[in-house]
Amino acid sequence: MTMPMIEARGLRHTYLAGTPLAQVSLRGVDVHVNREQVVAFIGATGSGKSTLLQHMNGLLRPQAGRVSVLGHDLSDPATDLRQIRRAVGLVFQRPEDQVFEQYVGDDVAYGPRRMGLSRPELRERVRWAMDLVGLDFEHYVDRLTSTLSGGERRRVGLAGVLAMRPRVLLLDEPTAGLDPCAREELLARLSGLHEQGMALAIASHNMDDVAALADRVYVLEEGRVALHGPTREVFAQVDRLRALGLDVPAPVEITFSLAARGLDIQQSVLTLDEAESAILQALSETRRWAGKDPSQLACVGNAGGTPQEDPS
Ligand SMILES: Nc1ncnc2c1ncn2[C@@H]1O[C@H](COP(=O)(O)OP(=O)(O)O)[C@@H](O)[C@H]1O
Ligand SMILES: [Mg+2]
Repeated sequence: MTMPMIEARGLRHTYLAGTPLAQVSLRGVDVHVNREQVVAFIGATGSGKSTLLQHMNGLLRPQAGRVSVLGHDLSDPATDLRQIRRAVGLVFQRPEDQVFEQYVGDDVAYGPRRMGLSRPELRERVRWAMDLVGLDFEHYVDRLTSTLSGGERRRVGLAGVLAMRPRVLLLDEPTAGLDPCAREELLARLSGLHEQGMALAIASHNMDDVAALADRVYVLEEGRVALHGPTREVFAQVDRLRALGLDVPAPVEITFSLAARGLDIQQSVLTLDEAESAILQALSETRRWAGKDPSQLACVGNAGGTPQEDPS
């Protein structure tokens, strides 16, 4: 395997350490993010997802354990955290709150302007980032940010992070509060960015988002990794996830309930299409075994289960 882009080992974090309000949020976490696989962190509220993401772009330094980002050890005082934050973009749960300039163009340009780009380069960069989030450059670049809708502000916040062209993009609850259409659009854009070479990790409550985007999932429970594996395998552990207070994607739920009612069905599905195929397959098997009824056999065509020893 290639070297992970981000790796945490034995990471611990306590907020307000040494005060009566001390709150342990990470209790020895081992995770890694690589270029090839989209990673999702799931877990109940307070399980430590946001704290973990904030370590991954150097907003927080490890109190104990190690975090290495693109080969740099975050505990090393020589590591330039500003450089880390350029290379690893973090989109907060409410990207609209990351918008603070008066004009859209200035807001998106805020980060790259500090990278010493020429004016034409900067303009191109802003245009590219706005395009990515579906904001027409000419239409929006001179708009006052105070006049934008919530959804537009959100896109501007995301564009501002993308304009840095980060090598890794971390998103905290990226679709929270989006309508279904905006959600679909964002998920497609994120997939596109990943295909173009950006490493991607998300923290999410939305299991359908995780099923749609992630190749690999970490389940956090009270600051520990409770489960980790390929998305399909993690979501196949329905009882375990429920015990952790988590939902599963709807297609998993459907096949799991059918299996619980006695249908012999393949259960490692993720998408609705896969659930549909699994259900059809299970039904055709059921008919084949029920097999003595020729009218039923006729429904499934050449199912190969024609009884040999028919006495008539
Ligand atoms: N700024 C903070 N100050 C004190 N406690 C915090 C702070 N941020 C998070 N916590 C606590 O740390 C734990 C983990 O929180 P968080 O990382 O936000 O979890 P998640 O993103 O999974 O909801 C929770 O118990 C939360 O209350
Ligand atoms: Mg959070």
